[in-house]
Amino acid sequence: MKRSTPSIVGYFLHKISGYDISSLLLLELEAYLTWPFRSLPSFLGYVPRYLIYKLLFKKLDSFCFIHPNVFFSHCYNIRCGKNFVVNSNTYFHGIGGIDIGDYVLVGPNVVISSGMHEYTKSREPVALQNIVPRKIIIEDGVWIGANVVVMPGIRISKGTIVGAGSVVTKSTEPYSVVAGVPAKQIKLRAN
Ligand SMILES: CC(C)(COP(=O)(O)OP(=O)(O)OC[C@H]1O[C@@H](n2cnc3c(N)ncnc32)[C@H](O)[C@@H]1OP(=O)(O)O)[C@@H](O)C(=O)NCCC(=O)NCCS
Repeated sequence: MKRSTPSIVGYFLHKISGYDISSLLLLELEAYLTWPFRSLPSFLGYVPRYLIYKLLFKKLDSFCFIHPNVFFSHCYNIRCGKNFVVNSNTYFHGIGGIDIGDYVLVGPNVVISSGMHEYTKSREPVALQNIVPRKIIIEDGVWIGANVVVMPGIRISKGTIVGAGSVVTKSTEPYSVVAGVPAKQIKLRAN
């Protein structure tokens, strides 16, 4: 017998059924608190964004420069060290946890997502299968170039530079420079 596929409303209900009520409320709170300030320019934007993410993140150690139109979801799973800078249009999905060290610099249009869709049931749409959380760790002094994608579960080790346009599928060595799709080590940083 052919199984019927749930409607998009069924999909939405399926998705939120995976959350407890406090997480759902936090997700709603972060959506509405961040929305009015997300695209404000310069210090008119940096200051309120810092204050809001100081409230919403699990930890945020010092003032940070969050450029316009950066999007963070599941802020309650995101920890961030000192002197963080992130450029415009970058997307952090914190469902599995994201730990960011000190002096981390992230370029524009980067995607850092700590959740993976299960796809084990081949006849069921991936959208209806579970999301598997996989924590991402970005250690101190990392620079992530423009248009990078960081896969779930990756550790970007201390001092790593990730070249523009890379897809990081494996954890990196400390003080390495990685680039390409998939990202490979192109050199180690001298000194
Ligand atoms: C990774 C990076 C720092 C390396 O710079 P570099 O040390 O001067 O390296 P080189 O230009 O000498 O390149 C070394 C090799 O890696 C390759 N390479 C460099 N960057 C690359 C990238 N992003 N993707 C793929 N390959 C890359 C080069 O083609 C070269 O290959 P070859 O030896 O076969 O000729 C730089 O290329 C980069 O991507 N910077 C990010 C810039 C950016 O995103 N700025 C805005 C965000 S803040």
